[in-house]
Amino acid sequence: MVRASAPGKCILFGEHAVVYGEPAVAVAIDARVQVSMAPCKGEWKLDGNPLNSERHPHVVSLRDAVLGAESSPHSLMVQSELFPAAGLGSSAALSAATCAALLQLVGDEMDSERIATLSHLAEAAAQKGRASPVDTSTATLGGCVMLSNEKESFADWRYTRTLETPDGELSWEIHSVDLAERARDAWLVVGSTGIHSPTGKMVSGVAELLTQRPELRQEITKMGVVARAGVAALSVGNLEEVGELMDLAHSLLREIEVSCPELDRLVEVARSTSLGAKMTGAGGGGCMIALTLNPKATAEAIEMRGGRVIITPLGAPGVRIEESP
Ligand code: PMV
Repeated sequence: MVRASAPGKCILFGEHAVVYGEPAVAVAIDARVQVSMAPCKGEWKLDGNPLNSERHPHVVSLRDAVLGAESSPHSLMVQSELFPAAGLGSSAALSAATCAALLQLVGDEMDSERIATLSHLAEAAAQKGRASPVDTSTATLGGCVMLSNEKESFADWRYTRTLETPDGELSWEIHSVDLAERARDAWLVVGSTGIHSPTGKMVSGVAELLTQRPELRQEITKMGVVARAGVAALSVGNLEEVGELMDLAHSLLREIEVSCPELDRLVEVARSTSLGAKMTGAGGGGCMIALTLNPKATAEAIEMRGGRVIITPLGAPGVRIEESP
């Protein structure tokens, strides 16, 4: 039996702007997806059912990429601590953990760039050729990750990720951000609205809005400025500034119409006990995050308004093997 796990993520800065070439900053969260894999008779299975390329295309393409289609059958069991379809990267965490378990099975080393690449390609194949590497890079590397279209000075450059898409070749520079010691005193409270809102719909909504109101490109540029300032503040441990920048990021995301009343309400109730709060991910539902030194009070405030919460430090370990034969 092989068991591997990978963390979910939330985006601190740069969602949507990253689609237009601005940087994005994400942290791994202390809520993981775990995959166990054991040999079985008959065919490949996932959670007791035949592995289905319609329902789990990324798992099938990872299996074929690592083992080849003729591999001997295994049964996969998946356990997740993440809210599903809430923008917390559960699919990427599943891909990264599956990839690590498969590599372990064939006796290959745990090479994080290879896991990030294979997982990203599998996610893209499952999403009509389009996927940013935010989720798969964060699930693989853990900690705090910055993506940009250039090498950034406030972060450690790790690798370049390129992808052939229907719109041509795209390329991202992936960095790890070293958080200052003081960032370990702070917590993120992730609050879910419980509303499912597909990322693709939100991304195309922004594209349409920018066509109608091209002046809003300024807000996208400002989001990039906020993301770079956020990384600088995180790396020197200026949590107050990180919080203020999160508030500012939320206002900019409201300007491009990706927030919604439920997200705004949870952000508002979290602010009195936190350093800053914003929606995270595609918006229109999904989750918000608050940076706080008092996680219990912030979580209670969000729960009082009906939000489900996850309390997490900023960053969690990336993909890892939990058990090997
Ligand atoms: O909701 P999530 O976590 O899948 O975030 C999507 C982030 C976007 O910037 C809106 C899209 C993307 O591909 O980066």
